Formats: sequence, C-alpha cells, structure tokens
Amino acid sequence: MQLEKDAPLSRKERLRTMERRDFLKTAGAAAGLATFLGSDGLHGVEAAVETIAGLTPQQAAREEALWAEVKQSFTIHRGLIHLDNGYTCPTPSVVTEAVVRYIREQEQGPYGLFVREARDRRATVKKSLARLFGSSPEEIAIVRNATEALKTILYGIPLKPGDEVLTTMQDYGSMVSVLKNREKKEGIKLVQVWVPTPPKSMDELVEIYEQAMTPKTKVILVSHVTYTTGQVFPIKRICDMAHQRGIEVVVDGAHAFGQLDFKVSDLGCDYYGTSLHKWLYAPKGTGMLYIRKEHIEKIKPLYGASTSRRSNANARMRKYESVGTQSEAPFLAIGEAVAFHNAIGPKRKEERLRYIKNHWAERLGRHPNINVYTSTAPEMSCCIASVGIKNVDPSAMQDYLWEEHQILTSRGFYEGEGNELQWVRVSPNLYTPLSDLDYFCEVMEDAAESGIPEPYRSYEPDPRRFR
Ligand SMILES: Cc1ncc(COP(=O)(O)O)c(C=O)c1O
Repeated sequence: MQLEKDAPLSRKERLRTMERRDFLKTAGAAAGLATFLGSDGLHGVEAAVETIAGLTPQQAAREEALWAEVKQSFTIHRGLIHLDNGYTCPTPSVVTEAVVRYIREQEQGPYGLFVREARDRRATVKKSLARLFGSSPEEIAIVRNATEALKTILYGIPLKPGDEVLTTMQDYGSMVSVLKNREKKEGIKLVQVWVPTPPKSMDELVEIYEQAMTPKTKVILVSHVTYTTGQVFPIKRICDMAHQRGIEVVVDGAHAFGQLDFKVSDLGCDYYGTSLHKWLYAPKGTGMLYIRKEHIEKIKPLYGASTSRRSNANARMRKYESVGTQSEAPFLAIGEAVAFHNAIGPKRKEERLRYIKNHWAERLGRHPNINVYTSTAPEMSCCIASVGIKNVDPSAMQDYLWEEHQILTSRGFYEGEGNELQWVRVSPNLYTPLSDLDYFCEVMEDAAESGIPEPYRSYEPDPRRFR
C-alpha cells in the first residue's frame, strides 16, 4: 500500500507486488502448518500433502498453501513468467540434486564399475516407473526421449506396401515424418485426418477415427494429449475400435505421462512412447518406451542390439536401451522424479494443473475478441491450452508477450485441407502463481481491445525463432 501511495506503480509492478503479498500470505499459512521443506526436498511436500489428506483432489487443487509449498521445491527463474512447460519442465531440486550426486559418484572412478554397482538401482528405478505406468517392468525400456521411443516403434513396426497408417494433422511432426519416409521408401500410405479445435466432444473424436479407418488400416498413431492445443484423446475407445478391426495403436504420450493420472490398462494400447523430462519432471534426456509383451519380438531396435540382449527373455526390452555409452545419472534420478510425483499424488497434480489452466482459459474465453482453441471440459484437457486474438498475428503476440512482458509461451501451428490455424500455446506448471496468470490475462485482454504496438503490429514472423 505504502508503495502505491509514494509512486504510482505500473500494472506489471502492481501485479508483482500482489504476487509477493499472495506468496507471503500463503507461505505464512504453509509455515503455520509446519511444512517447510526438508533437506531432501520431499519431506516438505509430503508434510504439506498430509495436511490436506481429507480433501478430494479437486478441493486440494484450490489449496494455495499446499501449492505455495510445492512451489518451493523448484529453483525456477523468478524473473520471467514461464508458460512454456510443454517444451520441457524444470526439475524440482530433489531431482536436480540427485543428478549432480549421481554424476559425482559416476565420475569418482571407473565408469564400468559404477555401471555394475548401479545395476540394482537401475532395476529399482525401472520397477517404480513401471508401477506408476501400470505395466510389467519387462514391457518398458528407459530411453532418451519420446522421439526415440516413438521412432523405434514407427520405424520398427512391420508394414507392407499399401498398408495404411492413420493419424491426425495435429500429431507431432517428427513422428509424422517417419511415416512420410516410409511412404516414400516402402509404399505404405499415410492418412492424416483433420481434427476441430476444439472438438465438440470425445464422441466426435471417436467418429473421426471410425470414419477414416479402412480395411487397409494397419496402425493408428494418436496423441494422448496433443502438443498443439492440449486436447486429450479418448484412447481406450479408439483402441477398442481399432482392435476389433485388427489394427494396432501407437500412443504418443509425450504430454500425458505425469500430467494425467492413468494406468496403461485404462488405455489398452499396443505401444506407448513418452518423455519423462516433461510432466514427470525427470532429468532432461529421459523417456520411456512401452511395448505390449506379445509385440516385443517383432519390433526391431532402431540401432540393432547385441545377441545376448536380444536373446535374454527377461531383458528383451533392454535391446531398445542399447545405444552405447551414456551417463547413468539422469536414468537413476528418474527414481527421485517418481518419488516427487507420488509425494504430491498423481491425481492431485492433474487436478491442480487443470485448475490453473482453467483459471486463465475460462477468463479469456469470455472475451469477445479472444478465441480459446481448447475445451475446458474436464475430460478434454488438462494443463495445456491454446489461445488467439482476433486480427492479431499469433507469432507477433508471442514475441510481444516475451519482449515486453517476459511471458514465455510457444507458438502452435496447424495446417491442412485448406485450413490454417495458429495460436499461442500456454502451459503453466505447479509453481505458477495465479497472479502470473492474471497478469497474462490482463496483457491479452489489453491486446484484444487495443491491439499490439509497433513493431509487433506489422511484424514479419520468422519461423526460425520458434520451435
Ligand atoms: C506430442 C509430442 N510428441 C513427441 C515429442 C518429442 O518429445 P522429446 O523432445 O522428448 O523427444 C514432443 C515434444 O514436444 C511432443 O510435443
């Protein structure tokens, strides 16, 4: 208050002050609950979660004291508003510290000795990951990212000339490019369907797939959560329909694992590939590949593998991990990421991520000049959503947000069948204060009413500046 009297604050400064006040209030409340972080970074989260144990995940999603405590688990840069967590998420301190600790251990002596000694720990990490995913550890491989997981499947799955692979125009370009390569080299046919943004319902998505399947369709590639608008797909219904026709389903779970609370049995898919460095908060360079037991034999590893790895029945998934020497540290620290995830509670985390998305998306969705391309119906989305302003170039908007307001978003782009859509993709995280989202909304509303200033107004977008 004193500050406001002495010198008028800009809107941005006002919001920052509000945020500090909110934070002190919530941190104070958290301290009252005696929930300061322990030295391992997990103790505080566990203690804070205990205080809200009687609440449903939806109620817990609104407990700002709990999330203020969780926020302390991250050492994120406070000088900007990070709304591009869809790219990758920062690791909580407990994970960062573990990677550093494991690197130190690894570098103390012969690498081979460390690898041998770490064997049991690797097995434990894999078991904890498999438990979270709901599969047997013998059906998963720990790989470097979703790209490696999914390309292993998409290149490895046997297909004949004329076989069709069905996917959408919103599936990830790098996966689609594998199918385009196989189209050129092997004569398979790639079929990409258009998906509305947002669709009216899950039924509409099922119908789109149903109508596009033909007797030649052999494989479906579907995103569990799209990278474009954060749309969640009805995977179980698509898998059931596909399996009745003898079609196998590959799920791109890059944005789903760690964001949504599910087990693989809820999906019924044949293959699943995901990053662990996105929503599970594991170290960069970690991913997971799942192949249903009966398919493991037929999927060749991308880089080949030694005979012993191929023939050992208990370690058949290890053939996909056989990529030469690499650091063990990120792999081992997945254990800490799973522990952090479980300490918060997967459903609680999902509901909080959905709640903060709705906080901004419902507000902006009410503005007549703003389009939100993501449905806020609970089953249709979680943390990621995309937005655009009528008559404002999304690339210019994204640049304006960053250059003038230090709000980091990403640009979404979707093109096909004569339609073209672009948007600003917004992906906050557990550590994002609501006041940051309020500030983002204010900037967007201002732009929707008054436009954006030069030079952004007549901006020539340079696609190389964006991912
Ligand atoms: C839908 C989707 N699939 C796959 C990937 C690739 O993930 P990674 O970079 O971890 O390989 C991404 C990356 O953003 C993605 O959005």
